[in-house]
Amino acid sequence: MEKKTPLISLDSILHATLLLLALVFIQEVQGIGVNYGTIADNLPPPAEVAKFLSKSTIINRVRLFDANPELLRAFKDTRIEVTITVPNNQIPRVTNLTVAREWVQTNVQPFIPSTKLVRMLVGNEVLSTANKLLISNLVPAMQTLHVALVELSIESHIKVTTPHSLGILVNSTTPSGARFRQGYDTHVIKPMLSFLRDSNSPFMVNPYPFFGFSVDTLDYALFLPNSGMVDDVTQLRYTNMLDAQLDSVYSAMKVLGFEDVEIVIGETGWPTKGDPAQIGVDPMSASEYNGNLIRHVTSGVGTPLMPNRTFETYIFALFDENLKPGPTCERNFGLFWPNMTPVYDIQIMRNTAIGVAHYRHKSLLIIMYATMSTMTTSLWVVFTAVGGGKMFLKPLKPHLVTRTEMKNTNARLTTFVVQA
Ligand SMILES: *[C@@H]1O[C@H](CO)[C@@H](O)[C@H](O)[C@H]1NC(C)=O
Ligand SMILES: *[C@@H]1O[C@H](CO)[C@@H](O)[C@H](O)[C@H]1NC(C)=O
Ligand SMILES: *[C@@H]1O[C@H](CO)[C@@H](O)[C@H](O)[C@H]1NC(C)=O
Repeated sequence: MEKKTPLISLDSILHATLLLLALVFIQEVQGIGVNYGTIADNLPPPAEVAKFLSKSTIINRVRLFDANPELLRAFKDTRIEVTITVPNNQIPRVTNLTVAREWVQTNVQPFIPSTKLVRMLVGNEVLSTANKLLISNLVPAMQTLHVALVELSIESHIKVTTPHSLGILVNSTTPSGARFRQGYDTHVIKPMLSFLRDSNSPFMVNPYPFFGFSVDTLDYALFLPNSGMVDDVTQLRYTNMLDAQLDSVYSAMKVLGFEDVEIVIGETGWPTKGDPAQIGVDPMSASEYNGNLIRHVTSGVGTPLMPNRTFETYIFALFDENLKPGPTCERNFGLFWPNMTPVYDIQIMRNTAIGVAHYRHKSLLIIMYATMSTMTTSLWVVFTAVGGGKMFLKPLKPHLVTRTEMKNTNARLTTFVVQA
């Protein structure tokens, strides 16, 4: 009698599963942006930083506070998207198209396309400077720089915008009640939003729950379980402060008729060290905030007023900046030490595959795929626990492949069970 050839061979299942696994793995790498400030005397060479970020972390965007050519060159031929800044003091000058052209010729053209320049920020938190000359020239400078980009046909690759502190808002105790500060609303923000909408560029804000929390609202600020806050006008419940801050910005934009303009988080973060009396300033809190932040903004959950959105986000900051003035916390926002090891673990390192194992159990093919970010020891604990236990030999659901994940802070083990 002729032996029946199985419809699907074990090999093909294994092959398909490994392919699927590779796809799943790629999906798991969520990108995040970071602010690369350089007010320090102990930072590693930019070329090493760029290589490290590109190869070893999930960071896929950096924002620079100027247009330092050494930094721009460092990101050449990396996968990282770069945002540059026109310093505040140059804003009045670049309202002149000749000067704007020169600025672009010097600071943009020599670096593209090998450096992936995607955005140009005109100043930083200009409205908070209360400097009338800068404020009155801000929108004209943005428009003129945009024209200079249009002349070179690169305006669809490089978007012009400017970051704002939440000091531009008033009455933001409830998110729905927040408005832009009177005077700025119609004279600066409205024409700016109009420009941003027309050029398909985002509105950029720098929300810092760190600067808004009290002893009672620390958990609310850190995205930890808490009783939350209800907006008494919309009756929407807020479970974290960042959502409330973003929805305040959204409400203010909506009143001006610009709720369709995208919101980008230009800066947010949490320091690891503060002055002696400060509460909630330690590596654990920083790790909670930034880790939960990454999960939240990339999850697609959105906010109560902006459901299902993800937010392009830039964590402040890449490194501690030891030469910054002000209170201790200002010098201690960094994610990495100067030797490029993480200050705390928030799953920001690119996972490296350290092993794939498969074995058969009755009619099941079990494939285990292990990845880790920083520590090997904990991974082996997980591996041993799983390899020795029976936890994955549960009855199968009707579909062909089931997938289970085990995670601890440093390692991740994905198991696929295939019905063979
Ligand atoms: C713009 O700048 C150029 C070059 O600096 C200068 O020659 C020109 O007079 C300026 N135009 C105006 C309107 O200020
Ligand atoms: C502040 O917001 C609340 C709603 O949250 C609103 O009832 C109140 O009128 C607002 N006050 C001002 C001055 O806009
Ligand atoms: C958000 O996603 C949920 C689930 O997919 C969907 O039911 C809802 O309509 C979406 N809301 C908006 C505003 O897109």
